[in-house]
Amino acid sequence: MTTLTSEFAVERVKKSRVAEVDFNNLEFGRHISDHMVVVDYENGQWGSPSIVPFGEMKFSPAMLSLHYGQAVFEGMKAFHTKDGSINIFRPHKHLDRFNKSLHRMCMPSVPEELWLSSLKRLIEIDKEWVPKTEGASLYIRPFMFATESRLGVKVSDTFKFVILTSPVGPYQAKPYRLKVENKYVRTAEGGTGFAKCAGNYGGAFYPTQIAREEGFDQILWTDSKEHKYIDEVGMMNVMFVLNGKLVTPQLSTAILDGITRDSILTLAKEMAGFSVEERKVSIDEIEQGFIKGTLTEAFGTGTAAVVAPISVIHINGTDYQIPSAGPTSFQLQVKQKLHNIRMGLEPDTHEWNYLV
Ligand code: COI
Repeated sequence: MTTLTSEFAVERVKKSRVAEVDFNNLEFGRHISDHMVVVDYENGQWGSPSIVPFGEMKFSPAMLSLHYGQAVFEGMKAFHTKDGSINIFRPHKHLDRFNKSLHRMCMPSVPEELWLSSLKRLIEIDKEWVPKTEGASLYIRPFMFATESRLGVKVSDTFKFVILTSPVGPYQAKPYRLKVENKYVRTAEGGTGFAKCAGNYGGAFYPTQIAREEGFDQILWTDSKEHKYIDEVGMMNVMFVLNGKLVTPQLSTAILDGITRDSILTLAKEMAGFSVEERKVSIDEIEQGFIKGTLTEAFGTGTAAVVAPISVIHINGTDYQIPSAGPTSFQLQVKQKLHNIRMGLEPDTHEWNYLV
């Protein structure tokens, strides 16, 4: 069923909370904007979408998603461009990934019209929540969960699709000190690693907590069979500058198809002198890169952080240091380029920007 924009039922907040937000000091995910989109799926079709004040929801404690983990989310961003319009970055690509994740979890796909009209309508209504401060953006969190109330193990017949938004500041965490994980795994080939399903994140908490107790900030996840090849870093894709080339693990069923990853690889291929390699990357190769001095940069990429520098990788008992990224580093140049495109400061030749 196609859902038309005009079918939205809108209930507005009596008083906006936006004045309570300090837009110069935004902690990730702390403030949720005034409104949310809610759409129910039942009897094999999507119902009419509504936009209602953000607040508590009522559901059964026997709801299947709470027990068997049928829950999927996305993370994307909207920006205030230099000419004052609002731009959502690559919403079609995010929908494509959302639907792949939903398919993996036996959940219904979201039609493009419902996706785009929901985003557009929500952001129009909450446009005062889109930060205007340098480097800040509106983080958009679409998600879906199984709502059928039943303890029997089954695929749910009913689902709820919700979109929340939250103003977020520029990423400012200190460069990561990484533990190479050789006991736990984030996922395995054939598992759900490529899908943005809730369980992937919950399952990573415990090994990450152990790594933190050992004095690390994050984990460098390795493959489930041999702990030999690199998959991801923390909750992000990982990239290296090795022998002057941009090198990143090739996508697999164990690796999330990051939209920031894809954007950076696309831009890197266009940046003079940069060749890109998507292939298996082993811990041994990274260690050799440190020993020979050919590894010059390492960083995570994701929607939330964009680029997260790595300062130390602990391999086989040695802390290998990476020099801090200067203004001519690849990661800062590409981050700037991405920023310029999203803010309308450089031409959007790939048609990544979707104006609200
Ligand atoms: C992202 O980098 O956007 C992520 O997926 C992290 C998110 C769970 C906050």
